Amino acid sequence: MHDPKPINAAKDIFWIGVNDRDTDLFEGVWPLPRGVSYNSYLILDEKVALLDTVKAKSAIPFEQQVLKLTGGRHLDYLIINHMEPDHAGSIPAIMKAFPGVKLVGNAKTAKFIEEFFSFTPDMLIVTDGDTLDLGRHKLSFALVPMVHWPETMVTYDATDKVLFSMDAFGGFSALEGGIFDDEVDLEYYEDEALRYYANIVGRHSQMVQRAFQKLAGFDIKCIAPTHGPVWRKDPGVIMKLYDRWSRQIPEQGIVLAYGTMYGNTERMMEAVARGITETGFSKVRIHDVSRSHASYILRDAWRYKGLILGAPSYDTMLFPPMEHLVNLLEIKKLANRVLGAFGSAGWSGGAVSRILKFGENNKLEIIGPSVEAKFAPKPADIEACRQLGRTVAERIMACPDCAR
Ligand code: FEO
Repeated sequence: MHDPKPINAAKDIFWIGVNDRDTDLFEGVWPLPRGVSYNSYLILDEKVALLDTVKAKSAIPFEQQVLKLTGGRHLDYLIINHMEPDHAGSIPAIMKAFPGVKLVGNAKTAKFIEEFFSFTPDMLIVTDGDTLDLGRHKLSFALVPMVHWPETMVTYDATDKVLFSMDAFGGFSALEGGIFDDEVDLEYYEDEALRYYANIVGRHSQMVQRAFQKLAGFDIKCIAPTHGPVWRKDPGVIMKLYDRWSRQIPEQGIVLAYGTMYGNTERMMEAVARGITETGFSKVRIHDVSRSHASYILRDAWRYKGLILGAPSYDTMLFPPMEHLVNLLEIKKLANRVLGAFGSAGWSGGAVSRILKFGENNKLEIIGPSVEAKFAPKPADIEACRQLGRTVAERIMACPDCAR
C-alpha cells in the first residue's frame, strides 16, 4: 500500500490508494497482469469527507490510513460516487470505524446499498447541481447515469477545481510508484486505460458523451479517478482520449483475429496479412482467438478502424472462441469499423455468415471479398484472402475520419 499523498496545493485533499496485484480477473472476466489500483480521497476541511472506498479485501489497511489521517477527528461525510464493490466494499468498515458518518449519494445509490448490504441507509440524497459546503471546499454533484452503472455520479470541488470522477478517466494497472500523470509512463499506461475503456465502459459510450455535456460546466484542473493516476498536470490528455474513444473515432490500423483447428484458417490468415502488407500498410495486430484473451482483442478493436475476422465452422456454427469474441463485440456495441471476413466451411458452413451477421448487426462497413474455403483453402481461396487484405488496407489508408 502506498502512503497517502496530498493532491492539491493546500495539502488538504489526500489520495489514499490501494494497489491490488493479486486479483487475477477484474469483474471475474478481465485479466489484470499489471494489477489495478483502487483510489479513495479524503478532504480534511472544517468538515471531513471521504470520497469512495476500496475493495473489501483491503478494508483493514485502508481504514487504518483513514484513521491515521483524520487523527481522531470525526468523519462527517462518506461520499459514494459509485457502488461497484471494488469501491463500495469498505463502506461497512468505514461506518464501523466512524459511527454516525453521513453517507452521501443519489437515490439509486441508496437502493444499491440496501441491496448489497441489507440495511436502509440514513443518507444525504443528492442530485444534479446540489452542493455540500465543507468549509474551504465547496462540493457539487453531477449524476452521470450508466457511465457505466445506473447510479454513477461525479463530485466536483469548485475551490481547487478537482473532479472526483469515479471510474471515468481511470484504467487498469497498479500505480507503479508514481500516482500523478507527471510521475508515470503515460504511453505504457494508455494501453491499459484503453483496455479498461473497451472492456468496462465502451458499451455505454453514448452515456459518456452525455456526461461530457454535463462536465462542460466545470472548470477542471485536476481529475481524481478511482483507478489509475491522478491527472494534475494535464487532465486534457485523458479527457481527449475518452472523448475520442466514446465517439468511436478509431486510428488507422487493422486487427486480424483468427481461430484455427487444423491450420487451414491459419493459412488463410497468413494470406490476408500478406495482402495487407503488400499495399505498404504495416499497422496490423494479429490475434489467435484461442490464445489471446478477448480483453486484448477488444482493446485493439476499439483502437483501430479495420477488423478482419476469420475462423472455421464448428457444429454448423462459428468456432466457439470466435463466437465469444463476436458476441462481446456486439455487446460492447463496436461501431464505425470496416469489417472483412474469411473462414472454412467444412461440410456445413456457418462461420463466415455469422461474422457477416455481426457486421450487419453493428452496422459496420463490410468489405469483400468474403472468403469461405471448403475444408482446406485452394489457390483461388488464398488469392482471395490476399485480395481481402489488400482491399481492407487500401480502405484504411484512405480513411478520412480516422484519428491522426
Ligand atoms: Fe471500478 Fe465500476 O468499478
